[in-house]
Amino acid sequence: MRMTDILERTRDGSGLSREQIEWLVRGVTDGGIPDYQISAWLMAVYFRGMSDRELAVLTDAMARSGDRLDLSSLGGRTVDKHSTGGVGDKTTLVVAPLVAACGGIVAKMSGRGLGFTGGTVDKLESIPGFRTELSSDEFLALSARHGLCVVGQSGNLAPADKKLYALRDVTATVDSIPLIASSIMSKKLAAGARSIVLDVKVGSGSFMKNIEAAKELAAKMTAVGRAAGRRMGAVLTNMDAPLGQAVGNALEVAEAVRVLAGEGPADLTEVCLALAGEMLHLAVGIDRDAAAQRCKAAMADGSAMRKLCEMVTAQGGDASYIERPEKFRRAKRIHTVRATQDGWLSHMDADKIGRASSVLGAGREKKGEPIDHSAGILLRKKTGDWAACGETLCELHTNDEARLPEAQEIFLSALAFSEDRPEPMPLIYEILD
Ligand code: URA
Repeated sequence: MRMTDILERTRDGSGLSREQIEWLVRGVTDGGIPDYQISAWLMAVYFRGMSDRELAVLTDAMARSGDRLDLSSLGGRTVDKHSTGGVGDKTTLVVAPLVAACGGIVAKMSGRGLGFTGGTVDKLESIPGFRTELSSDEFLALSARHGLCVVGQSGNLAPADKKLYALRDVTATVDSIPLIASSIMSKKLAAGARSIVLDVKVGSGSFMKNIEAAKELAAKMTAVGRAAGRRMGAVLTNMDAPLGQAVGNALEVAEAVRVLAGEGPADLTEVCLALAGEMLHLAVGIDRDAAAQRCKAAMADGSAMRKLCEMVTAQGGDASYIERPEKFRRAKRIHTVRATQDGWLSHMDADKIGRASSVLGAGREKKGEPIDHSAGILLRKKTGDWAACGETLCELHTNDEARLPEAQEIFLSALAFSEDRPEPMPLIYEILD
């Protein structure tokens, strides 16, 4: 097989055979194909796209390029969720215990934050003692015992994706629907759950800036998942503004706990209930309305909160931080940003708010950099709110005072004000069948 033939066929849109795609993925994984040819292939896919058949074969080959989790010992109720990135997105911390409290099994691998988006693993590690690196035996044992376990991603999960993603990042080919779909779904397929719910974000804080592109991505990913024998669901949700009020690791854990206690922000609560309902619907096979009712009941009767405490304890964490989130160490410096004029907050650029939080110490620019778990932003006004001159727009939390001016500048550049009340935006655009 020759890479030049594969390049020609992809460039001309003539389609690749299964053998060609599998050969390509092997060469990407073992280093047999040089970076310049892989980069040229990525660019050809960027412009030419891929057929649904090619996408399914590519994703399957990428999923098989490294470790795969075998969750079959846990039965058929295993369910995973993937959010396509966002700011202030702490939904996993809420939906995982919620679904587990209702009978689903959430044995989940999550990622760390990078750039302006946060990661569940960093959030969980703000709970003292919490361990996100477990052996696969311990992961399976805790999942079987509690119906819930959340760990960091195995280093060798879909290595072909790791290589392709690194090259996409430096060849302006990240923004391609088949490449995003194969990247996300290869990791989800390798992670082993029987059912998968995709939270496809739309708006300024996400990859997909409009609803049509988000729908296309969701349709491609669900088709790939079904071709691999998984039960798939997708919810299109708004990421034009951060979700909830907290951005930053410990601040987000505390907010997730408030949601489980029924006292969280309305937008975050609504998105969590929609995702959890869809996960339960797929995992245990009850209809959507019944699943949504069951999830609401698990929030109201405290069973979801107890499940979160159970998981935290099982993974070595101190559950008293969940029972009393005020125990989280606060940042040394909390700076209030105030409105300098009256007006309606008509827009917030979610990615800039994520960047401001990262500057405060909550995020990392490069893999492996340490983060400050107590840093972040508490939003006091969100899109659609009226802000009178002098009212608090947000609190910036940091342990490094020198970072405040830059963070404040980025935060303020994320906001737009108007004299007229903005039209409310939907929070959940669509639940795709
Ligand atoms: N997340 C991924 O894992 N891959 C992409 O390509 C985009 C978002």
